Amino acid sequence: MTNKKEFNMLLVFVVCCISTIHSTCVKEGYLLHCFNVTNEKEFSKGLERNRDPDLVEFALTDSELRYISHDAFHGTNFTAVYLWNISLLSLSDTDIAFEGLEDTLKTFIVHECSFVGHWNWDSIRNFRALELIDVADTDMEYVSDFPNFSRGKNHLISIRNSSVVELSPTAFSQVEDLVILLLALNNIEDVERSMFPKPALNLTVLGLSNNTIKSLPVDIFTDMPALKEVKLDGNKIHTIEKNVFVPVRNHINLVRLLGNDLNCDCRLKWIIEDDMRTKLLANCKYPPDLEGREVSTLDYGDLWC
Ligand SMILES: *[C@@H]1O[C@H](CO)[C@@H](O)[C@H](O)[C@H]1NC(C)=O
Ligand SMILES: *[C@@H]1O[C@H](CO)[C@@H](O)[C@H](O)[C@H]1NC(C)=O
Ligand SMILES: *[C@@H]1O[C@H](CO)[C@@H](O)[C@H](O)[C@H]1NC(C)=O
Ligand SMILES: *[C@@H]1O[C@H](CO)[C@@H](O)[C@H](O)[C@H]1NC(C)=O
Ligand SMILES: *[C@@H]1O[C@H](CO)[C@@H](O)[C@H](O)[C@H]1NC(C)=O
Ligand SMILES: *[C@@H]1O[C@H](CO)[C@@H](O)[C@H](O)[C@H]1NC(C)=O
Ligand SMILES: *[C@@H]1O[C@H](CO)[C@@H](O)[C@H](O)[C@H]1NC(C)=O
Repeated sequence: MTNKKEFNMLLVFVVCCISTIHSTCVKEGYLLHCFNVTNEKEFSKGLERNRDPDLVEFALTDSELRYISHDAFHGTNFTAVYLWNISLLSLSDTDIAFEGLEDTLKTFIVHECSFVGHWNWDSIRNFRALELIDVADTDMEYVSDFPNFSRGKNHLISIRNSSVVELSPTAFSQVEDLVILLLALNNIEDVERSMFPKPALNLTVLGLSNNTIKSLPVDIFTDMPALKEVKLDGNKIHTIEKNVFVPVRNHINLVRLLGNDLNCDCRLKWIIEDDMRTKLLANCKYPPDLEGREVSTLDYGDLWC
């Protein structure tokens, strides 16, 4: 009898302590925070043990996983998922990620994660509420195609400081209601019209600051009737063809071009003709006598070839 009691207590002790060692999920107010996870099954169990209608956001930090089980989130209703400092080879073990969050997930944030370039973004195609995707400080390098997700919702996608050198030729073309797209602080050299939705009826801000873009294709802003602001500071643009801004000149408010290699010569006469001077925040790099001159102060007499 005593022995059995002791055995039970031992069992309780073992179960309790195993779960303390592996209990990598803690509740922090309305946030469920899991960390230090290295086992995919353990991760799913940690989530299962913490079903609670008061938990509305989920964070996974400081972990190394091959994948997140497609069914790990079954029965939860998180509106936000944060992945911070995790090494994750794949978003899912099937071609669907985060099953169960289709109608609730609004915000997906990925900071300081590795292998992000391997993730299959098509696996988020069933999300119906997702509006914000924010990827920062990762090793993404290549941006593959984003699917046609949460149709009819406003979308903001930001991929920042993630060593991006190349975008798929159709990277964001399926994201119909893209409103703000920010791709700052990468090494993007080439942008093509085909990378964005066509038409991009709702695109208002296109941010490409701090990349290595040398020139803009002449059709880049076609079919973008809502475009208000383009951020191109910190690139390597040396001239802009006459017709680039024609499709948006009636509704664009600001084109940021500071810190480029602009050559202020006769090829930029359209800036004056099209009355774009007040909308361009830019300065000349060449010729030497115009170096540093604000484009808004240029006149025909300054622009020679
Ligand atoms: C993570 O787990 C390891 C053992 O698996 C442990 O040594 C370490 O202290 C844990 N780190 C944190 C922050 O809990
Ligand atoms: C999630 O929402 C569903 C449907 O509204 C509900 O049945 C379920 O109890 C909720 N689960 C949690 C953990 O809040
Ligand atoms: C990132 O997570 C790893 C565990 O995967 C941990 O060892 C490391 O200290 C974490 N880094 C930071 C900056 O928290
Ligand atoms: C860019 O990301 C790296 C980590 O990948 C980080 O160390 C660095 O501070 C970030 N730079 C900026 C300007 O945010
Ligand atoms: C996108 O723009 C169209 C046309 O202006 C509008 O009907 C639609 O409601 C907008 N979509 C969103 C998500 O704002
Ligand atoms: C997105 O999906 C909707 C509904 O299925 C469809 O009508 C639309 O053509 C799709 N858009 C793109 C760009 O694939
Ligand atoms: C671009 O880089 C400059 C200089 O490093 C920095 O001041 C600015 O904040 C960056 N802009 C963006 C949008 O990252």
